[in-house]
Amino acid sequence: MSEIEMYSDRFQAPAAVTAYELEEYGLGSYSSRVWQWQQPVLEQLLRAARCQRSGPTRLLDFACGTGRVLASVEALVEEATGIDISDNMAALARQKCRRAQVWVGDILRQPELLDKDYDVVTAFRFLLNAEPAQRRRVLSRLRTVVREPEGLLVANVHGNSRSLRHPAILWRRWRARSQPAGTLLNEMSPAEAKTLLRECGFRVVRQFGFGVLPPTLYRTPLRGPAAAMDKMLAGDNLWRDCSIDMMFVCQPC
Ligand SMILES: C[S@@+](CC[C@H](N)C(=O)[O-])C[C@H]1O[C@@H](n2cnc3c(N)ncnc32)[C@H](O)[C@@H]1O
Repeated sequence: MSEIEMYSDRFQAPAAVTAYELEEYGLGSYSSRVWQWQQPVLEQLLRAARCQRSGPTRLLDFACGTGRVLASVEALVEEATGIDISDNMAALARQKCRRAQVWVGDILRQPELLDKDYDVVTAFRFLLNAEPAQRRRVLSRLRTVVREPEGLLVANVHGNSRSLRHPAILWRRWRARSQPAGTLLNEMSPAEAKTLLRECGFRVVRQFGFGVLPPTLYRTPLRGPAAAMDKMLAGDNLWRDCSIDMMFVCQPC
């Protein structure tokens, strides 16, 4: 990625879509493991949200990408919509989803893309790598479409700077110091993430953490015990602020 490439352009090319699908989420990848722990928690949250409503539950998956999240939750709600800025990511999402509608566009420039009063808005793997100003614009826009007062935003930050991922990021930054920017090496602390959410009109009502041990362990023969330990530590517990992937459940404030 060149220094001036915007995050919204990063997944436009077919090669980036393939890499995301087959490498980032390839069989046995670290990201797939995290999703294995995260998915049941998200599903449980959606079931609970649906139980609390008398009417149909409407979900928006912002930056739905390849439909990884959308395809797994669409059956849990009456109406599911995915939006992404990349045609190629959205095309794959349409192949995976059976019921959800998938739209392509920019929610900041095309207000007609969004409805309002969504019961749940999900935004996975967007906040960490989007440009700071873009994160704020997007969150503030999403804030206007979450149902008041009990609607939910479920968003994650998959690079906690207070986690054991941090030393590897420092090392990779040092190694990459003289090369053009290509790999995303962003981080955010739990406090930074919560401040961002609060400043954009959301209060965190629950926080879950996934993946405490260094991801490098998963490239060694210790991957089995590491996965067992990480699975045990995942959830809304004392480890959440030092977990690599932090998932925030928020309501409008
Ligand atoms: C890392 S992928 C995450 C996809 C999906 N949410 C997931 O967790 O698998 C990031 C996605 O954000 C999308 N994206 C980036 N900027 C965007 C924007 N301004 N509006 C909508 N989608 C955007 C990209 O096209 C890409 O599909």
